Amino acid sequence: ALITLRQLLDHAAEHGYGVPAFNINNMEQGLAILAAAAQTDAPVILQASRGARAYANDLILARLIEGLAEMHPDIPLCMHLDHGNNEATCITAIQHGFTSVMMDGSLKEDGTSLADYAYNAGVTRRVADMAHWCGASVEGEIGVLGSLETGGGEQEDGHGFEGTLSHDQLLTDPDEAARFVADTHVDALAVAMGTSHGAYKFSRKPDGDVLAMNVIEAIHQKLPNTHLVMHGSSSVPEDLQEIVNRYGGEIKPTWGVPVEEIQRGIRHGVRKINIDTDCRLAMTGAIRKVFSEKPEEFDPRKYLGPAMAAVTKLAAQRFEEFGTAGHA
Ligand code: G3H
Ligand code: 13P
Ligand code: NA
Ligand code: ZN
Repeated sequence: ALITLRQLLDHAAEHGYGVPAFNINNMEQGLAILAAAAQTDAPVILQASRGARAYANDLILARLIEGLAEMHPDIPLCMHLDHGNNEATCITAIQHGFTSVMMDGSLKEDGTSLADYAYNAGVTRRVADMAHWCGASVEGEIGVLGSLETGGGEQEDGHGFEGTLSHDQLLTDPDEAARFVADTHVDALAVAMGTSHGAYKFSRKPDGDVLAMNVIEAIHQKLPNTHLVMHGSSSVPEDLQEIVNRYGGEIKPTWGVPVEEIQRGIRHGVRKINIDTDCRLAMTGAIRKVFSEKPEEFDPRKYLGPAMAAVTKLAAQRFEEFGTAGHA
């Protein structure tokens, strides 16, 4: 059944677990993730970015969500907009059946330049008011996602921030986080602790200098009742990199967010954990394997089937690791 982010994360907080939020762009990803949720008896968050909405079309996504919910009446399912960039993007998502939206006002609408506090708090409060009138939930973001190694560095879309940011500018300030939650009425708060989107987060296994999990603990102390969200939380497992590369891919050596660091976050208020890259790697590795081993195959089901199986395996593993399993 479809539920809101607030309903799901309140339950997660009460029972001390985290919920992976998996990005989807198509039917295969949706089916695969719901299969994992059914296998492990886990509630689930599916999220679509603006790019996903443009790729799949809002009407198709809306019917996909309805279909998945109807297929799995016993699985609590939250459908969330990832990184909304203005009021219109958020409200049209709700119109199309999303039960939750992210208003990301940490950047300006163009997605490349940094916004100030007043802009972020103002636009997020307006979206929270409208979403709450409609019975939907809202995630806001305070602080800037980006690599502490590179000082902001490249975003996933290839746009860099103008200039580089210092260590402190990239991390969420706990006092500002508390003020932001009071000013905006968000249901969940995305915070910055050194992760970035995509496969290239860290050039070695991250330590506390580049992955500042202590920031999460400080924010949780100030805001014990706020549901925290970790973006850029793919673990970029070596075995998935290896499969892609074995069958002709070219992923350069890289490190993601270790699962044990996410588990530490879950002990300190992290309830929603955003994962896209790991599913992309799992799908692509499985597809490359079929293309390489069975070049005579050209029925899409012959490679999309294995791709779904790889996503189901990955998602089921995260449901177990985050303690989501058994809570549907
Ligand atoms: O925020 C980043 C997510 O991985 C979604 O990526 O905008 O390419 O769909 P996307
Ligand atoms: P990854 O690129 O680490 O999977 O992060 C996804 C994300 O944060 C989507 O909002
Ligand atoms: Na989000
Ligand atoms: Zn994100």
